[in-house]
Amino acid sequence: MGKLDGKVAVITGGSTGMALAGAQLFVAEGAHVFIQARRQGALDDAVRLIGRNITAVQGDAADLDDLDRLYDTVKREKGSIDILWANAGMGEPAVLGEITEEQFHHAFWLNELRDRKIRVNVLTPGQVATAKQEELFDEAAKAAFESLIPRGKMGRPDEIATVALFLASDDSSYVNGLELVADGGTTAL
Ligand SMILES: NC(=O)c1ccc[n+]([C@@H]2O[C@H](COP(=O)([O-])OP(=O)(O)OC[C@H]3O[C@@H](n4cnc5c(N)ncnc54)[C@H](OP(=O)(O)O)[C@@H]3O)[C@@H](O)[C@H]2O)c1
Repeated sequence: MGKLDGKVAVITGGSTGMALAGAQLFVAEGAHVFIQARRQGALDDAVRLIGRNITAVQGDAADLDDLDRLYDTVKREKGSIDILWANAGMGEPAVLGEITEEQFHHAFWLNELRDRKIRVNVLTPGQVATAKQEELFDEAAKAAFESLIPRGKMGRPDEIATVALFLASDDSSYVNGLELVADGGTTAL
């Protein structure tokens, strides 16, 4: 029996990197996974790789019409969402001291969701060896990052996927409002 048997998961930005590793793991644990990303080619590759119980919906997570289309597809095909991993997210930069109460509540007010039995947790990855890393950093930069990690090696996408599985499954049923940092201990130094 899988940890996510019969669950419906939606992962934005799930065509590459750690969210793709998460999509693979969620399907292996019994979920049907919808992934959204902008490049159709990468979505097609992900669907081929995972092979079953995976639906790709092309779109931009920053575009409300695309998000509506994603939601409509999930609703039409599966009825509802059990797990949402908003991976393709960007923070809204705001200067410390100028953050408004409204902005804070918008991000952190979980009791809006309490009655709907929705838990909200944040998975914060440290440096993880994904294709994006290869694109952005040369060997010297990667070595500099790794020198800050106690084990001396970046995380792998599958090491983030297992943490995401914990947060997505009933294993974390009493975990709510948590920021879980998976960075090999870098921030603890
Ligand atoms: N790797 C790290 O060390 C690290 C550390 C801390 C935080 N993060 C953050 O964690 C997230 C995933 O990182 P990763 O390294 O796994 O990235 P990645 O390999 O580049 O994957 C990013 C995924 O998001 C999709 N995406 C990007 N912008 C999107 C948008 N506007 N709408 C929908 N999909 C979008 C990409 O596909 P398309 O380009 O086709 O849309 C791709 O599927 C990113 O937000 C990154 O900033 C990464």
